[in-house]
Amino acid sequence: MAPNPQGPSPFDDPLIPAELDRSNIPTHVACVMDGNGRWANARGLPRTEGHGAGEEALVDAVDGALALGIEWITMYAFSTENWRRPVDEVRYLMGFNESLLMRRRDELNDKGVRIRFAGRRDWRVPRRVLRRMDEAAELTKANRRCTLTMAFNYGGRAEIIDAVKAMVASGIKADKITEKELRKHLYWPDMPDPDLVVRTSGEHRVSNYLLWEIAYSELVFPEVLWPDFRRSDLYEAVVEFQRRERRYGGLEE
Ligand code: IPE
Ligand code: IPE
Ligand code: MG
Repeated sequence: MAPNPQGPSPFDDPLIPAELDRSNIPTHVACVMDGNGRWANARGLPRTEGHGAGEEALVDAVDGALALGIEWITMYAFSTENWRRPVDEVRYLMGFNESLLMRRRDELNDKGVRIRFAGRRDWRVPRRVLRRMDEAAELTKANRRCTLTMAFNYGGRAEIIDAVKAMVASGIKADKITEKELRKHLYWPDMPDPDLVVRTSGEHRVSNYLLWEIAYSELVFPEVLWPDFRRSDLYEAVVEFQRRERRYGGLEE
């Protein structure tokens, strides 16, 4: 299918709350899709069923981002620490991320979504999964309506280490190392820092997500388990974001 740079015109969604200020939309929302295992446990299902059920939530959240005009959305799909899980669950997650891309890449492309990946491409990620990731990125690379970054085999510390390694390899002098310089070596230097981080399932922690980038992000922790998350929950999180006052270390106006 031919790439679709613009995508369909933004649609209005009757679920968008009246109190949501359409002139104050976060540029970048990053989600920690957490609670899949507990969702499955509560139903007497294997944990993997919870991951499977998370697909609907992901797609609906992207639709919500498109409706609001959020330009960057980043989803934590697999952390560098998730290799500690039982091999069967890890194997499932690898295959699931691969098949999800095959199922969803065309519709995401049609919606004008650019798909990207952030994380380590190490030997533990199966070759064919990397191939699907590359295909999805290639297919959608001209899209600009929204960039969906899948944080996959991603760790915030790993990203900073990789940036430092790249700087050292470039032969940079110590006194030339600045925040601006380090940022140039992050996985996606053009990605703006998240304005809003949404972690579902009521866990109040960061779990090695985007450590450099979230220095001044607003954090929202809805109780909903990820498989039950829908775009209305995203809208609620944006409303909460709009109640916050961002100060960046300065003083309020
Ligand atoms: C998040 O759900 C998905 C991944 C980490 C891949 P979990 O699998 O962490 O679900 P809980 O936190 O155990 O409920
Ligand atoms: C973070 O969730 C990683 C993803 C959602 C992919 P975890 O469930 O792995 O985090 P912890 O272990 O509860 O901190
Ligand atoms: Mg979890």
